[in-house]
Amino acid sequence: AFLRTWSLRSSQLTNTVPSEYTNYVDSDGDSILYYQKPGTSGLRKRVKVFEQEHYTENFVWATLQAQPEIKGSTLVLGGDGRYYGVECAQKVLKLSAAAGVKKIIVGQNAILSTPAASNLIRKHKAYGGILMTASHNPGGPDNDFGIKYNIANGGPAPESVTNEIFNITKTIQSYSIAQLPDLDLSKIGSYKHGELEVEVVDSVADYVDLLKSIFDFDLIKKFLSENPSFKFLFDGLSGVTGSYGQAIFLGELGLSKDSVQNAVPLPDFGGLHPDPNLTYAHDLVERVEKDDITFGAASDGDGDRNMIIGKGVFVTPSDSVAIIADWAHVIPYFKGGLKGLARSMPTSGAIDRVAQAKGVAGYEVPTGWKFFGNLMDAGKLSICGEESFGTGSDHIREKDGLWAIVAWLNIIAAANQEHKGWNIKDILQAHYSKYGRNFFSRYDYEEVESEGAQKMIEHLQKTFESLNGTQLKATTTDTTFTVKETGNFAYTDPIDGSVSKNQGLYVVFSDGSRIVVRLSGTGSAGATIRLYVEKYSTEASEYGQDAQVGLKPLIEVALQLSKLQQFTGRDKPTVIT
Ligand code: G6P
Ligand code: ZN
Repeated sequence: AFLRTWSLRSSQLTNTVPSEYTNYVDSDGDSILYYQKPGTSGLRKRVKVFEQEHYTENFVWATLQAQPEIKGSTLVLGGDGRYYGVECAQKVLKLSAAAGVKKIIVGQNAILSTPAASNLIRKHKAYGGILMTASHNPGGPDNDFGIKYNIANGGPAPESVTNEIFNITKTIQSYSIAQLPDLDLSKIGSYKHGELEVEVVDSVADYVDLLKSIFDFDLIKKFLSENPSFKFLFDGLSGVTGSYGQAIFLGELGLSKDSVQNAVPLPDFGGLHPDPNLTYAHDLVERVEKDDITFGAASDGDGDRNMIIGKGVFVTPSDSVAIIADWAHVIPYFKGGLKGLARSMPTSGAIDRVAQAKGVAGYEVPTGWKFFGNLMDAGKLSICGEESFGTGSDHIREKDGLWAIVAWLNIIAAANQEHKGWNIKDILQAHYSKYGRNFFSRYDYEEVESEGAQKMIEHLQKTFESLNGTQLKATTTDTTFTVKETGNFAYTDPIDGSVSKNQGLYVVFSDGSRIVVRLSGTGSAGATIRLYVEKYSTEASEYGQDAQVGLKPLIEVALQLSKLQQFTGRDKPTVIT
């Protein structure tokens, strides 16, 4: 097919960096497109930004050019079904054809959940993949879109690659695109699109096979059919996992239709905020309480996050990963034992205790799933998780929402063989009795003015040195904490030796409690401050307590210490998890 080359830059334009990370327009009204900085999870912007002339092409072209062996390669392409996904996919196909990509494996209708895409990259030994998603950000014409590149191991591109993409977006002079008609992506099959081979695959089938190879589906099915009073409800939040959830829970496990809700993926997620937490998944939370649901679960827009709840009980992600690790022996995939366990720094230390008990290494990495990938590739890590509702294992290189949900079903089914009637609450209580309880909570202050947030961090850094050994008092509960250690988390990757600094401020108290403060790396407007508190208890009488009650004094001290209200003007968090 014939190529058209767009020239992007006239010589008189200077290469100054705009203050906003968006496309900007020069004085003559020409778009210049050289400042597209992908974050940890790709380039995320408003749909309107992506819809500007050349904007999407520029970024995709830069992404392709940043891969040294793109010519003759095979890529995977798919997204979470959000608005603009199909248009973007058509552009990616034509740009890839022009860049000399040999083959693209694309999900039907351009749909693939993030875990399913990671799986396909690995399964087909593809060179990489382009994922069209803005994860849990709202979708639709007035909301967000995103493009993210994953490498051959199936995981998000490391910073070296995203930096290279960014550099190219700043210096790119032109891009080429194949002049082809749009390809019909609704029909499964193999096509020739110019010089490019395109294979349209079922979005769901390979992923369902993967989960079936990991978990004991027969045991789960048997448990569900023998225990009709065990009521299960999955909420797809109108994100991509709706189709996967239907295939797994209705198709494979034979549950009734009312076991899933919001399970049809919609381009605008039905106006919902597709983030599985107690605030945004409130429909699910309400139905679980009202309809006496034993087990409720949700996943986010692109399917990598998860939340597990029961009637009157919420499983914090920090506990969830610790419990899955503790029960790993009932999951066929882990029959050979665990290679190692890991968590991100702000995540509670519950999983550390499991690692210790099992005699395997427990790693603490910075926030961001990519840090787990190196450990997995080196054969040192089996199960890991983050407090931000991400749980997963080395079966792929992304966190995996449905994996976590089915893991819990597998565990409950196995637990019931010995302890008839056990549900989520019993499993949690048994875990606390064995290991003690790590109370954990996170307060989010979203879209805070960047300057105030920055000042607060500077204030904390400055006061840190003088804090050691001092006592801080929560007046409302008359609790005193003695500061044992303060610091700014830094990580040296044990595999490649790379160093990541400034990954979060922490204060550890003499009783082992901890406060962590960091700025989110994923927000799209202003700054988001995250405040994490953790307290460890071996008092059996406290195990049944509401986390917010037990953690109240720590929160008070954290707010005192950070002067958060003073710096940001906020007296309440946007979200508490
Ligand atoms: C994404 C990443 C996670 C990370 C999360 C929170 O979902 O994939 O690995 O934990 O963002 O990041 P943030 O910087 O917003 O706390
Ligand atoms: Zn996500």
